[in-house]
Amino acid sequence: MSSLSVRHLLGIKELSVKDIELIFSTADQFKEVLQRPIKKVPSLRDITIANVFFENSTRTRLSFELAEKRLSADVVNFSASSSSVKKGETLLDTVQNILAMKVDMVVMRHSSPGAPHFLAKHIQANVINAGDGTHEHPTQALLDAYSMREKLGDLGGKRVAIIGDILHSRVALSNIFLLKKMGAEVMLCSPPTLLPKYVGQLGVQITYDVRRALAWCDVANVLRIQLERQQIKYFPSLREYSLYFGINKAMLDALDRPIVLMHPGPINRGVELSSDAADSHHSIILDQVENGVAVRMAVLYLLAGQR
Ligand code: CP
Repeated sequence: MSSLSVRHLLGIKELSVKDIELIFSTADQFKEVLQRPIKKVPSLRDITIANVFFENSTRTRLSFELAEKRLSADVVNFSASSSSVKKGETLLDTVQNILAMKVDMVVMRHSSPGAPHFLAKHIQANVINAGDGTHEHPTQALLDAYSMREKLGDLGGKRVAIIGDILHSRVALSNIFLLKKMGAEVMLCSPPTLLPKYVGQLGVQITYDVRRALAWCDVANVLRIQLERQQIKYFPSLREYSLYFGINKAMLDALDRPIVLMHPGPINRGVELSSDAADSHHSIILDQVENGVAVRMAVLYLLAGQR
């Protein structure tokens, strides 16, 4: 059997094209399993996985838990808001205590960029980054690319516009790394204040005109305005953002070729996307969520295979 070149999934940056293709072909097999009446396989029967979430999550947390249970792993869930972290316990102490209970893999979300990398240096268990601050969200990028590939075929030469709050988005960075590795062209579209200073080093096109981005791309991956990470005002008001950068169904219908609309969630309906766009035939947002389980099963299975 082929195996991944990494022991942990910390970011897309560390993955090779071969790793990504292996994850996709393994996810194809698990997607087939998920269509069966009995959606469970015994692949991780002897493996215990801790989902350690220091930040809120709906999709990623449920998707990982479901993927782990479909693979027959034993699962424990940890939420910082109801834990001894509130009493001052450190990240390393918290995780060492969880590992003392014989945990094999840790899926971690944390608000600090690099937190999963720090953990991976100090523990024996495999670490999977489920989102570290504004840095990376590798399984989201993998499921996004998997969903694009399912809809459009090979990603080589495909045009993907990432529209929204790029500055605060780990989804944007992981998507850019992955799409570039797979030969896609990437355009970023946001107000200039919501682009990172290092954007010139990413090898992407930039526009401040959402209509130009939509006319250019095969796929529009729309991102949420992350107000919880904004200490200063980056634009005058949400109403003004929506007027200049918001996407509605009429804008998508008016294009002279098909467009695939994506969003990693959670959606701020009426800000970056109108409800009629999010729920339109252009959208594959719920396909992304469905594919997330198969892609995360593939990642867990392949990392466990190295033990
Ligand atoms: N896409 C994503 O990471 O969503 P959650 O924050 O709900 O996990």
